[in-house]
Amino acid sequence: MAVTVASAPAKIILFGEHAVVYGRPAIAVPISQVRAEAIVEDSLRSGIRLRAPNLGREYWLNEAPDGDPFARAVQSVLEFVTLPNLPDLTITVKSMIPIASGLGSGAAMAAAVIRSLALHLEITDLATDEQVSTLCYQVERLLHGTPSGIDNTVVAYERPVYFVRQQPTNRIDTFSVAAPLHLLVADTGEESKTWDVVGDVRRQWQENPKKFELLFDNCGRMANEARIAIQEGDPERVGRLMHENQGYLRAMTVSSEKLERLIAAADSSGALGAKLSGAGRGGNMIALVEEENEDEVRSSLLATGANSVLLSVLT
Ligand code: MEV
Repeated sequence: MAVTVASAPAKIILFGEHAVVYGRPAIAVPISQVRAEAIVEDSLRSGIRLRAPNLGREYWLNEAPDGDPFARAVQSVLEFVTLPNLPDLTITVKSMIPIASGLGSGAAMAAAVIRSLALHLEITDLATDEQVSTLCYQVERLLHGTPSGIDNTVVAYERPVYFVRQQPTNRIDTFSVAAPLHLLVADTGEESKTWDVVGDVRRQWQENPKKFELLFDNCGRMANEARIAIQEGDPERVGRLMHENQGYLRAMTVSSEKLERLIAAADSSGALGAKLSGAGRGGNMIALVEEENEDEVRSSLLATGANSVLLSVLT
C-alpha cells in the first residue's frame, strides 16, 4: 500500500509583520529544523480518515466540523482536481511547531497536507511551491481572516522571501544572504491568536488611519533597508533596523510585557537587535546575535523566563 510523506518548516518574520497586510514589503525566513509533517496512506476502509495524534484527534473528512483547517486543506486539493472516485486514505499530521506562537504552525501543517496529498494522488500541477502556497492561503484565510499571504509563501517555498501583497499577483523575491545571520528564537509561552491581533490592528487603523499608515510606511522602509543590509552582509545594520521595527510594533500596541522583558534582556546581553516576530502580544521574539555572544544571550533569555530558545542560522 502506497505511503507518501511531505513536510513544511516553521517560519519567522524578520521585518514588516502587520504592515505587510496593508501592502508594505516584509521579510520572512523558514526555520527548517522545526517542521510539520503529513503522511498519506492508502486505506482498506472507505472514506478519508484524518488523524492528528499530537492533538488527540481522529475523524472522518465528511464528519469534520465546519471551518476545520485540516479538513479544509484536504478539500482544497480535492477541489483542485476532478477525481472519478474519492480515494480511500488515512492522512496523519504531526507537528513540532508550537501552536499560536507566531511560527506559522497552521500554514506549515496545511502546506505539508497539501503537498503530500498532491504527490500521493500524482497531481503534478499541484506539487509546485507556487500551487502549494496558493492552496495553503485558502486555509490561512479560514484561520486568520485577512492574511497577507507571507506565511504560506515562506513555508511553501522554504526560502528567505521578500514579500509584497499586491494585485494581480503578490511580489515574491528570494534573495541572497551575504553574511550568515545567527538568530535566537525565544518563546514567551504566551499564546497569541493572529486573527485577534490582526483584527485589533485593523480597528486601530480605521480609528486613526493617518497614524497607522505612517507606522506601516516605516515598517516597509525597514524591510527595504534590511534587504539591502542582508544582501551586503551588514548584521550590525540589520540589528539596528530590528530595534527600530520593534518601536513601530510597540506603537501599534502589539508587543507585550513579556516580549519587552525578553527584548531588553537580549539587548543588555549584547544582541545586535531584537524584536517580536509574527502577530505579537505573545508568541516568539527573535534576537540577532554573533557567534561569540550566542551563549550569553541565550542564557539571559532563559533566565528572563523564555520557555525555550532555539538557534536558526540564516545563510
Ligand atoms: C503573521 O505571521 C504575520 C502578520 O503580518 C499577519 C499576516 O501577514 O497575515 C501579523
